[in-house]
Amino acid sequence: MLIAGNWKMNGDPSSLEEFGRMIARAPEAAAKGVDLVVCPPAVLIAKCADRATVSMIAVGGQDCHPDPSGAHTGDISAEMLAACGARYVIVGHSERRTDHGETDALVAKKAEAAQRGGLVAIVCVGETEAERDAGDALAVVKRQIEGSLPATLDPAGLVLAYEPVWAIGTGKTPSIDDIAEMHAHIRALLESRFPAVPVLILYGGSVKPGNAAEILAVDNVDGALVGGASLKADDFLGIALAAPNHG
Ligand code: 13P
Repeated sequence: MLIAGNWKMNGDPSSLEEFGRMIARAPEAAAKGVDLVVCPPAVLIAKCADRATVSMIAVGGQDCHPDPSGAHTGDISAEMLAACGARYVIVGHSERRTDHGETDALVAKKAEAAQRGGLVAIVCVGETEAERDAGDALAVVKRQIEGSLPATLDPAGLVLAYEPVWAIGTGKTPSIDDIAEMHAHIRALLESRFPAVPVLILYGGSVKPGNAAEILAVDNVDGALVGGASLKADDFLGIALAAPNHG
């Protein structure tokens, strides 16, 4: 089980204290078989990684450029993230897809770049509310998975995050049946492409300590990608400790 926190554009140097509290409590999660990843804003990655010397909590980026280096003002490469101590990177988050017009093809290049740089790629997919209302959620996610995973992908360095866009930051979540249906759908897609390697599938969208136990108990839910509730150690650990025991 993997619980990943996406701090988004939140945090400043004082957040390192909160991260320190997460490190201090990481052994509680590890005792339940839960790995933790925190993806702070880029400016805090190196400082967080320097502190996260216990192997029970890893640090990740929130995005990377497809290229290893070059004239791309404001961008950061997977190699740079890795050099700062990151072990994961989120690619294709719906906020990147919306705010920056990222397409499946670009996300696939970023996933490829992540692995070239030695990082685990957390590839995000998820339907909008209109797509779900139209009955298209399964088809949209299938198309996104097919388009966002590069041909060269090593499944051992992949985590897939299902984040319905309408559940992000809204306090709304799909029904347990809808989460189960979507995760089974994603499992089938991933197993047909990578029959030999199990890929972790995370659910993301308004996961809180209060609903985590129910969501994390769903078949084919291997963890969560958490936004708002990952900013506070107590909430983040509350989610991790709600996971069913995996030993
Ligand atoms: P919230 O947990 O704030 O809904 O955000 C989910 C998310 O987008 C994580 O990447």
